[in-house]
Amino acid sequence: MEANATIGIMVGPHGRGSNMAAIIRSCKDGTVPGNVQVVIASGPQSDALGVAQELGISTKVVLPGEEYGPRLLEALEGCDWLCLAGYLRILPVEVLHHFPNRVLNIHPSLLPKFGGKGMYGRHVHEAVIAAGETESGCTVHIVSEKYDEGPAVLQLKCPVQPDDTPETLAARVLKLEHQAFSEALARLIRDRSH
Ligand code: GRF
Repeated sequence: MEANATIGIMVGPHGRGSNMAAIIRSCKDGTVPGNVQVVIASGPQSDALGVAQELGISTKVVLPGEEYGPRLLEALEGCDWLCLAGYLRILPVEVLHHFPNRVLNIHPSLLPKFGGKGMYGRHVHEAVIAAGETESGCTVHIVSEKYDEGPAVLQLKCPVQPDDTPETLAARVLKLEHQAFSEALARLIRDRSH
């Protein structure tokens, strides 16, 4: 029997939502055997909210603060997978426990290199270039209680060119991210459905 997962996606308060949109499209075209039930942003000004609505997905804003965990769980009711797409916080522990090994994050480097608190967006690509790396890429991993830790599910690699700026490298890696998140999610959903 084909799996049909129900997926929630969380984005940050300033998220663009390009990884989120890639996952939604992959569900619509059948690449991922599931459907996105809700997109949750941690702030009302996230551009991802408008993108999700244009794609016909319902959205919610859940602001961090008191009872954040229970409020998130209420907003995610009915979901069996959770994807973090540009969400930069540590998830409340009750949310992690509710989705055992079913919370995925994407990071724009080949973890464990260039991960951890403060390593996001441009900072990652600057550090990769400064370290003289000849290869970078992205990692989809299971989320744990620490930043950018938890087992890797899939890594895709690309070269770092000698004349790369953080922007050119970010653009190359972002294309891989869109492919990797859907591929990893599809693989895990299919594996867990037998
Ligand atoms: C991506 O680079 C992702 O790796 C990181 O946050 C960024 C989100 O970009 N976790 P977008 O909002 O999906 O375009």
